[in-house]
Amino acid sequence: MKGVILAGGSGTRLHPLTKITNKHLLPLYDKPVIFHAVEKLVNAGIDRIMIVLSPQYLDDFVSVLGSGQDFKSKNTGHQIQIVYGIQNEPRGVAEGLWLAKDFVGTESMVLHLGDNIIEDDISEDIASFKTGAKIFLKEVSDPERFGVATINEKKQVVEIIEKPKNPKTNLAVVGIYIYDNSVFKKMEGQPKSDRGEYEITWVNNRYIEEDELKSKNIQGAWFDVGNFDSLLNASNYMKEKSILKNKQATS
Ligand code: DAU
Repeated sequence: MKGVILAGGSGTRLHPLTKITNKHLLPLYDKPVIFHAVEKLVNAGIDRIMIVLSPQYLDDFVSVLGSGQDFKSKNTGHQIQIVYGIQNEPRGVAEGLWLAKDFVGTESMVLHLGDNIIEDDISEDIASFKTGAKIFLKEVSDPERFGVATINEKKQVVEIIEKPKNPKTNLAVVGIYIYDNSVFKKMEGQPKSDRGEYEITWVNNRYIEEDELKSKNIQGAWFDVGNFDSLLNASNYMKEKSILKNKQATS
């Protein structure tokens, strides 16, 4: 399985912090935001990752991550391989994934949004994945910021609405998705949304229509660090976690 991390977009909600750098390179406690997504995939056994980014930040990402020399494969013990894909304009998450089509080849893939910090371990979900799509849900108090899932009595997702004004549930779609290779076929002919983007929610709804989408509720913490509060909360959370880990190690 290949990994695709999206780190494009303009990050205007974090101005002026993102005037001279990219939001995924900002510090989140003790490391850049992007490290969290890379580590999540590497810990789940993914060795080949494409990072999709805006052209003006390519050099910075290469300075920070290089070819992946700081990350060791769970499978081989050697370094993983990171490559880069260029998204000229932020035309949406689904377009970012589309740009990784040749890199993914005939394999399945895990797509991680670079500004999402996810505590749960998804190794099992990746190891046991066969076909279709798997998405992850979390109950939140501000669902209007996210893709929001409606589920039926069997707890199956029947619809996802992107940033609804009046959400029907508080079940947000987390920014990590596992797809089989049919995702690219499903994306053919995708229209832009009203906000002018190729939405990943549209793609997920295609999987729902084909009855090929599974979901799981995550248990641990989750942050989408696209705004100041969430970036600060995620940093504080990581600091507390690190203090606890150090205490446990010395006791
Ligand atoms: O955080 C989870 C949410 O992420 C989901 O609940 C939504 O369904 C999904 O659409 C997405 O919504 P956001 O509005 O938070 O997406 P955002 O524009 O912040 O972009 C998410 C990540 O993808 C971020 O790391 C930047 C990157 N990105 C975004 C766009 C629009 C790209 O690489 N290219 C793009 O064109």
